[in-house]
Amino acid sequence: MCKMKKLLGSIVSDWSRLQRQMYVTNVVTPDIPVLPPTNHVARKYQGLDYDTVQKIKEAHVVPCIKSLNSKPLLINEAHMQWIYDHTGKRYLDMFAGIVTVSVGHCHPRVTEAAKSQLDKLLHCSNLFQHSTMYEYTKKLVKTLPPHLNVIYLVNSGSEANELAILLARLYTKKQDVIAFNSAYHGGTHLTQTLTALATYKYPRNNAPGIHHAMMPDVYRGIWGGARCRYSPIQTKRYCECPPNQCDATNKFYEQLVNAFQYNVPITGAAALIAESIQGVAGVKEFPRYFLRKAYEMIKSTDGLFISDEVQTGFGRTGDNFWGFEMHGVSPDIVTMAKGIANGLPMGAVATTTEIAQVLTKASHFNTFGGNPVSCAAASAVLDVIKDEELQANCKEVGTYLLTQLSKLRDQFEIVGDVRGKGLMIGVDLVQNKETRVPLNSRHMSHILDSCKDIGLILGRGGLSGNVIRIKPPMCVTMEDAKFTYDVLHHVLTKFQNKKL
Ligand SMILES: Cc1ncc(COP(=O)(O)O)c(C=O)c1O
Repeated sequence: MCKMKKLLGSIVSDWSRLQRQMYVTNVVTPDIPVLPPTNHVARKYQGLDYDTVQKIKEAHVVPCIKSLNSKPLLINEAHMQWIYDHTGKRYLDMFAGIVTVSVGHCHPRVTEAAKSQLDKLLHCSNLFQHSTMYEYTKKLVKTLPPHLNVIYLVNSGSEANELAILLARLYTKKQDVIAFNSAYHGGTHLTQTLTALATYKYPRNNAPGIHHAMMPDVYRGIWGGARCRYSPIQTKRYCECPPNQCDATNKFYEQLVNAFQYNVPITGAAALIAESIQGVAGVKEFPRYFLRKAYEMIKSTDGLFISDEVQTGFGRTGDNFWGFEMHGVSPDIVTMAKGIANGLPMGAVATTTEIAQVLTKASHFNTFGGNPVSCAAASAVLDVIKDEELQANCKEVGTYLLTQLSKLRDQFEIVGDVRGKGLMIGVDLVQNKETRVPLNSRHMSHILDSCKDIGLILGRGGLSGNVIRIKPPMCVTMEDAKFTYDVLHHVLTKFQNKKL
């Protein structure tokens, strides 16, 4: 009887696996790049039908929620670097839910850690203690420079940046903060003011005390040459700087000095805040030595340096675990979010014991901060990054992909710039190389939609929305990088031949 049950059980499970396999609908067409294989078999979609979702969205969801593609994806399931839509079609996810799925969608170890915590304790608030939060805090501190030994766990990058500015203002007893043009630091009132992209601004008063300095953009900016970046791929601009010197940095630095002189009292600013590589701006890198000089300047006037590592943290840039390390700076405050818990809502602020002390002047509370399930997932994320050597993978796969993509710049008039570090890559599309005028939105959408149709999900950024953003889960392979290049080559060739 028992044997019979076992046999029946295995027939049923084989049958459902077969059904799930039959459900996969990716079509192979000659000349079109084929997705690398996977053993994962997605479940059958059982949610609302596609049209019902669109109707609900139209009627009841805030209209500012926009989709990346003309025909938005309805996602059923995701596994590591793969996404499956409601029809069972598989896609390579090279955008990671906006740089958030750090170690792979539903990574088994992260999922297991979250599930087992969910069984034990889901919430208790930081008025009480639970071990998971303290274990995680200790683990996170170990990844940071020794002076950054105090952590405040929050829920998002915006919250983390809000808190960082509060800390800086209270600690320095100063009000002004300098951020960079084209920065993105969040969507709350204060962080929206820190953000310097018109596309994310509303017509209302800004939060007081925030000023912006010129972003040293070595591709589109006034200055820049072929040796400015800490990156394998440089611009094609002329450069005659001797080794260990960057003229563009010196000139952009004068602009930063001006921003301070014209906006900030002689007593100085509370803080300078910067992303180590600007993300939403379209992967904009600071030229060599610039952030180091900027850091020295703010420190010399007793202000604090805040490093926004929401996108660049956790090994993504390849050479370093934290993006600020490439600039040789030692921040007073580091903010993080997105990939920290592989997609569970979480953010964090790291700072010094002395700076953290200022928060005791009043009560500061965060209901969900340090949530046990998020902490369990975040803890597993750190283990996976280490055990699966994902930082090294970012460097290896990222450098290969960057090098391959730079070939597109030689082949296609509309590829103006390829930039980035590790698995944080931008491909800047233009109307022509000479003028560097951004590719128009219709053409940009056509290119991203065509890639999606072949099975490749890419992101989009930049002030004009003309930069392809490639920031996949850090587990992607060389084969995935090759597929990404092949698809882009295929789509750009078609685009060029059709002259759309
Ligand atoms: C660099 C950076 N900082 C802060 C934020 C805000 O994070 P959140 O959306 O979690 O509030 C983002 C979000 O894209 C970001 O890219």
